[in-house]
Amino acid sequence: MASSSGIQAKPLLAALRGERRKRPPVWLMRQAGRYLPEYREIRRSVAGFLELCYSPDLAIEITLQPIRRYGFDAAILFSDILVIPDALGADVRFVEGEGPQLTPLRSRADLARLDAKGLHAHLEPVYATIRGLRAALPSDVTLIGFSGAPWTLAAYMVEGGGSKEFLAPRRMARREPELFGALIDLLADAVIEYLSAQVTAGAEVLQLFDSWAGVLPEPELRRWCIEPTKRIVTALRGRHPDVPLIAFPRGIGASYVEFAREVPVQGISLDTGVPVAWAARTLRRDPSLCLQGNLDPVALLGDETGLLAEAQRIVAAYGDRPFIFNLGHGVTQETSPDAVSRLVDYLKSLDG
Ligand code: CP3
Repeated sequence: MASSSGIQAKPLLAALRGERRKRPPVWLMRQAGRYLPEYREIRRSVAGFLELCYSPDLAIEITLQPIRRYGFDAAILFSDILVIPDALGADVRFVEGEGPQLTPLRSRADLARLDAKGLHAHLEPVYATIRGLRAALPSDVTLIGFSGAPWTLAAYMVEGGGSKEFLAPRRMARREPELFGALIDLLADAVIEYLSAQVTAGAEVLQLFDSWAGVLPEPELRRWCIEPTKRIVTALRGRHPDVPLIAFPRGIGASYVEFAREVPVQGISLDTGVPVAWAARTLRRDPSLCLQGNLDPVALLGDETGLLAEAQRIVAAYGDRPFIFNLGHGVTQETSPDAVSRLVDYLKSLDG
């Protein structure tokens, strides 16, 4: 939190309050995970991925691994967006090599079987992880809590797993908008309660992942992404006025303009497809809006010269805007841990 002199000792919180410093704060989506040998070692010790998310000691250790290795400005809670469907009773499983699988939700009766009553009891290990992390993290590192946004959560639930197209949820949204709307409302309420409890446990910033917003055309985007996100953000700002929110409506292109205008978040994360100079010029220019992103995760698989040139181009393209350096999507499994070191060392060298 801010010291009595008003100087923010946490670079990430300073950026989200609209401060622009010479060295941008940096963290990476999926900074913990399979590209790190120390993660793979812990992963081997448990049967299923969700067990990691519900074991506070393991989740704390995994969250801290990239902080120790690289000295990022933020730690993101180690968990997954699908713990909410799991807590509601969607029976989430992670199948090796195939990604997540859920019992598909296709009818009123399927929706009626979901139950939000046990939400906090089911997610208590996540809150315990957050409490442990606040005690363990260095004083200049910000702890980010997160949730999936309703559209993306509903997409996995109706589809019954991952997909390139998410046809089943898109079809339900058009054919049975009342049923789909009831699912979105249920999820929005659960997200508000979940994120609010994360703040009570010690989360200092909240990020909302809407990873599949990009499959929705304009009117559907407004109805299933922008409106529910606005409702969540407004509720959380009312309850926790000092906790900044970052939204990541991945893949929405020029609709980032409308999103930024409509949704009162302090930060907006840009996917790799968004030209940074355009975003810096065009997205809501009030002092409270910080942008985040958007290095191509694949740049970490290329040579060092190309990687650093790309990072430099992005830093320059933000001009005078406050921003947080990040990727445009998560670190890929094939990434060499050394490539991440080179990127972070470069960004830290901008201090002088
Ligand atoms: O370091 C971090 O970013 C924190 C941890 C985190 C994970 N998932 C861990 C994870 C976060 C923030 C997420 C978010 C998440 N999960 C999203 C939104 C961001 C995005 O990538 O678009 C989504 C869509 C999911 C759903 C999900 N979880 C999928 C599709 C998969 C399978 C694909 C894959 O990469 O394996 C997961 C599993 C998952 N979540 C892993 C990790 C480290 C790998 C599982 C394993 O180790 O076996």
